[in-house]
Amino acid sequence: MPYLRPFVAAVVRPIPITTREQRIQELDRAGHNPFNIPADMVSLDLLSDSGTGAVSIDQQAWAQRADERYAGAESFYRFREAVRDIVPYRHILPVHQGRAAERVLFSALLGPGKISISNTHFDTTRANVERLGAQALDLPCPEASDLDSEEPFKGNIDLEALKNVLSGPDGHRVGQILLTITNNGGGGQPVSIANIEAASAIARSHGVPLILDAARFAENAWLVTRREPGYQDWTPRDVARRAFELADGAIASLKKDGLSPEGAFIGVHDSELADRCEVDVIATEGFRTYGGLTGHTLEILAQGLREVLDPHYLADREREASFLAECARNAGVSTVQPAGLHGIYLNAGRLLPHLGPEQFPGHALACALYREGGIRCSELGSLYLGELNEHNQLVKPAPFELVRLALPRRVYDHSHWEYVGEVLAEIAKDPEQVPGYRITHAPKVLRHFRCRTEPVTL
Ligand code: F0G
Repeated sequence: MPYLRPFVAAVVRPIPITTREQRIQELDRAGHNPFNIPADMVSLDLLSDSGTGAVSIDQQAWAQRADERYAGAESFYRFREAVRDIVPYRHILPVHQGRAAERVLFSALLGPGKISISNTHFDTTRANVERLGAQALDLPCPEASDLDSEEPFKGNIDLEALKNVLSGPDGHRVGQILLTITNNGGGGQPVSIANIEAASAIARSHGVPLILDAARFAENAWLVTRREPGYQDWTPRDVARRAFELADGAIASLKKDGLSPEGAFIGVHDSELADRCEVDVIATEGFRTYGGLTGHTLEILAQGLREVLDPHYLADREREASFLAECARNAGVSTVQPAGLHGIYLNAGRLLPHLGPEQFPGHALACALYREGGIRCSELGSLYLGELNEHNQLVKPAPFELVRLALPRRVYDHSHWEYVGEVLAEIAKDPEQVPGYRITHAPKVLRHFRCRTEPVTL
């Protein structure tokens, strides 16, 4: 059947067109860290899918009806109703973004000596666990380590390993089990309902709360309908609800599947836990009916949540991601398989075998994409996850050297992905031209956001 994209652009933003010389200068100024490049020097910005999507005309229309009163604004009730339609928890607290939700909920569940177990903690999530003096333990399923396999649910948590920790000597220290859906740190791979069910049963039998980090709950639900036997006839909304029903609580950055530039929520059943979170939210974010968000944003979120589970929208998102993955592979660059929805993960280690992990091949590819094409993205490899010594030399590499091309929602189209493919093909024609990197400045925490690097001249 001929394919019809289910929306058109109603307002457009011209993108900067730059020269290679300008980009080389920018990279130098930025300490060769894409996070430091001003956006007006970036042509295609694939750094994040968070808060970077396009809002719809209905979101804009609802925003005009915002009620900005301090307490109990109409916008809050519309927001809460839209959340509760998907998330069946007694208590819903809005906050300004996902990491605020993490900080508040984790402060109530964790503390020094406690352990948080996850399929994979996202970077800021891990930071929010560790700043409480707790330990963040990742237990991805074994299938996750084969980047090329077509296993449908490589985002799952390793259930056997989870049981072992809970019934082992450290079991009493586990304060939460956190399932990240989809698994961003693990290649954007989905988590099956069967895996959430099993994790839920294990969590209950050990009296440990199961929490969803549900930033991409709609994309996970869509991939369940596409890949998990028994769910083909379910609506994405019913699958999403089922996932939330299985957990005791959730945090969700709504900068992704809330189709909004800001916002998040904490949702829990337990009234005592909700009470503790509420005090923290009032003290640090805002009153419980706005949590640091304007009525304008609450309306954008309410409408975004009504739109995001539309099967036509989600099918389009899948199609875009698969197309970008195909463009990359046609250019001779392998991607983590099967493609998820929010990003395509390039296997830089394989493309640049002349660079050992100590020369950060993922980072080298990310810098090359900017230099050659004005494309901004970030590495997920040894620069982010590796261990350094006091001289900023790599002593323990990451398991993989990846680069994430994140897909902002409803922004780019096929012509942009073809362009990415063309730039990748240029790089892949002569990969040895891509220089390795050394770190010149590395803060101890959240290094990849703030470090400076320089190319190693051959
Ligand atoms: N959890 C996951 C799985 C995330 O991907 C993010 C953000 C957060 C929590 C934090 O939410 O940004 O609203 O504070 N991920 C973005 C990304 C930044 O690019 O993947 P936030």
